[in-house]
Amino acid sequence: MDVYSKPVVFAVLSAIVILVGTVVTVFIPMLMPSTQPVSDYIKPYTAVELEGRDIYIRGGCNNCHTQTVRPLRTEVLRYGEYSKPEEFAYDRPFLWGSRRTGPDLNRVGGKYPDSWHYKHMADPQSVSGKSNMPPYAWMAQNRLDTRYSVRKTRILGYGYTEEEVVAQIADYRAKVTSPSYKSKRARNGVTPKELRDELTEMDAVIAYLQKLGRDVKKLEAGN
Ligand code: HEC
Repeated sequence: MDVYSKPVVFAVLSAIVILVGTVVTVFIPMLMPSTQPVSDYIKPYTAVELEGRDIYIRGGCNNCHTQTVRPLRTEVLRYGEYSKPEEFAYDRPFLWGSRRTGPDLNRVGGKYPDSWHYKHMADPQSVSGKSNMPPYAWMAQNRLDTRYSVRKTRILGYGYTEEEVVAQIADYRAKVTSPSYKSKRARNGVTPKELRDELTEMDAVIAYLQKLGRDVKKLEAGN
C-alpha cells in the first residue's frame, strides 16, 4: 500500500508540505531584517511630502506612472541609478506600479524646477506637447488638509514630534509663499489669489515629486 491509494493521508501530507514551503519562503523572510533594509541616507517623508503622496494616490497617478527603475541598461540610461530596496522603507503602501503610460517617476526629484511642475500639473500639454496626461489644475484650488498629518506620521512611525510636524508644514508654507521663492510666478499663475498665502494640494504633490530619488541623488553627489 502506498500513500497514493489513501486520499486522506495524501491530502494531509500535501497540506503539510505546502505549509512548510509557505513558512520557509514567505513568513520567515518577512521576519528577517535583511529583507527590510533601512539606510541612513534614506530619510522619511516630511509631513507635507506625505500629504502629497496621499494626493498622488488619490489622483490615480500610479495608474500611469511606475516608481521603480529596473536594473536594465536602457532604464538606467533614461532615468538614472536603478531602485534599491531600502528606498521604499517609508513607503506604505509602495507605489511601484505596473503601467507606464507615462515615464517612471522614481528619479524625478530635482529633475525640473518647481515652476515646471506647476505648469505641467495644471496643463501638461503646455510643457509637453503630445502628452496624454490629464490636467490637475484643480489641485491648486484646494487648500491642503493637514488635520491628520500628525496622526499619519505617527502611525507610519516616522518619529516626528507634533511640534516637528507643525514646523515642517509652516516651513514649507513659508518657502512657497515667500516673495523670493524662485517658482513664484508659475505658482501664482495656477493658484487662485485667496490661496496664494496658504498651502494647496498642488504644493504638496510637487513637494512629494521633488522628494522622489532625492536622497539617492544626494548620496551620489557626495561620492
Ligand atoms: C493617463 C495617464 C497619466 C496620469 C493619470 C498621470 N500622468 Fe503624469 N505623465 C503621463 C505622460 C504620458 C507623461 C509624459 C508626457 C508629459 O511630460 O506630460 C507624464 C509625465 C509626468 C511627469 C514628468 C516626468 C518626466 O520625467 O518628465 C510628472 C512629474 C508627472 N507626469 C506627474 C504626474 C502626477 C503627479 C500625476 C497625478 C496627479 C500624474 N502624472 C498622472 C501620463 C499620466
